[in-house]
Formats: sequence, structure tokens, C-alpha cells
Amino acid sequence: MPRVLFISHDGHTQEAQAQPGASVMQAALDHGVAGILADCGGSCACATCHCYVGQAWLDSFAPAATIEVELVSFAFDPQPNSRLACQLVLGEQHEGLVVGLPRRQI
Ligand code: FES
Repeated sequence: MPRVLFISHDGHTQEAQAQPGASVMQAALDHGVAGILADCGGSCACATCHCYVGQAWLDSFAPAATIEVELVSFAFDPQPNSRLACQLVLGEQHEGLVVGLPRRQI
């Protein structure tokens, strides 16, 4: 089961473990990670799961769909490594994935 390290905007870290096939959003929710609100429940409709994927991991996920790119553009402080956590499906290759969290959502 891949472990994901979440890092808040102020440097607080929290580890979450998830089954392969789960999303980064689900891993965060299951472990009470602050900063992932997931208001739409993972339907790519709210951007309250905005996160920053560690540079080393960017190419390990499928590219963002157009709707995700559009939603991210409306999120708070979007960066080149911004993604929506609900669209990031975890696999065994994501062991040790590092995910940053924005200062606030939307
Ligand atoms: S949970 Fe709403 S867009 Fe990801």
C-alpha cells in the first residue's frame, strides 16, 4: 500500500496510506488530513482538493483533463505542479509520494 506524505503550507507533515486504486483525495480524507476539503466528493467539480504534486512524481500520474486544468486555474495560488487530488489515482509506484497543500482552498 503506497504511503503519501502530505505537507501543509506551514510545514506540518502527515502520512497517509492507501490501497492502490484509491485517489490521493481519499487517502487524505481517510486520515483526516487538514487542507483537503473535497466538497464535491471527488467528482472534479469543486477544486477544494487542490494540491501540489512533488516534482519527482509529476509524470507518474495521467495528465490532467481539460476540466481539471480549468478548475485548478480558479483555485487559490495555482502552480505548475498543481493538481486536484481526486483525479490522482495511486498505484504501488507512488510509495513515498510527496503532496503539498495550499495555504487555503479556493
Ligand atoms: S473533490 Fe471536488 S474537485 Fe476534487
